[in-house]
Amino acid sequence: MSCGIYGCLGGVLLPDGPRRPQATQTLAIHPPRSGIIDRSLPTTGAAMLSKGFLPSSLPEDPMPLFEEWFSGVRKAKAQPNPDSMALATATADGRPSVRVVLCKKLITSPGYVVFFTNYDSRKGGELDANPRAAAVLHWDAFGRQVRLEGPIVRSPAAESDEYFASRALDSRIGAWASLQSQPLDSRKTLLKRVAAEAARFGTHVPRPPHWGGYRLWPETVELWIEGPFRVHDRARWTRTVEPQGDGCAAGHWSAGRLFP
Ligand SMILES: Cc1cc2nc3c(=O)[nH]c(=O)nc-3n(C[C@H](O)[C@H](O)[C@H](O)COP(=O)(O)O)c2cc1C
Repeated sequence: MSCGIYGCLGGVLLPDGPRRPQATQTLAIHPPRSGIIDRSLPTTGAAMLSKGFLPSSLPEDPMPLFEEWFSGVRKAKAQPNPDSMALATATADGRPSVRVVLCKKLITSPGYVVFFTNYDSRKGGELDANPRAAAVLHWDAFGRQVRLEGPIVRSPAAESDEYFASRALDSRIGAWASLQSQPLDSRKTLLKRVAAEAARFGTHVPRPPHWGGYRLWPETVELWIEGPFRVHDRARWTRTVEPQGDGCAAGHWSAGRLFP
């Protein structure tokens, strides 16, 4: 029986080796696929071809597995922004929009992810009107994606302060200078605003009140691994999440496989 380019090796999580820090993080990089895009990546040979499958008995809670994938791809340094996440929001009447943000935190228990942005941006306005989002992290080099859907709440001020303080000085100045999502007559105007804010604050740049974090509390998580000949492996976990005060209350997960 022919098993194709991936089939022979698919499903095998390779044993730990000198180039891999931990057995649980043996995420494998795809070989470049011919034809469409040159996906030349720092592969280290046949050992990198394995992509694996989801566990045959799905874990009760998907977040530790999500975290394992996430930390694995970050350590592998196979793509410049492994934490980039497409984030979809929608207006109150259901008109969607999507953009990329960075997933800066993944808290496995009780289970949410955090990104940071301008609260006055388009996404901020849509989240004020309709505080729900869908997100996807796609790690092409590993043939994996993670989908999240659920309610969104703003981060506590302390979380936003802490992350803002960790940012480079220029990024902190940029958060004041940019009226994110507003029309801009010319790039010169933006550069003037950057210079003005830099002069105003010097090196002590406080967090702007319009800038901070959001926590996306998934009530649905889907983990997906690319399989040979499009026989992908796909499972979805669901739970209830109810916004409560500044946070959310989450129920228990239930899991099931899906046809790919
Ligand atoms: C790799 C990448 C990472 C980004 N990270 C962020 C981010 O963490 N926060 C953010 O506000 N915008 C980020 N952006 C810019 C957004 O995609 C978007 O242009 C911006 O947030 C304005 O979106 P909006 O007008 O829909 O609100 C990133 C863009 C890219 C390509």
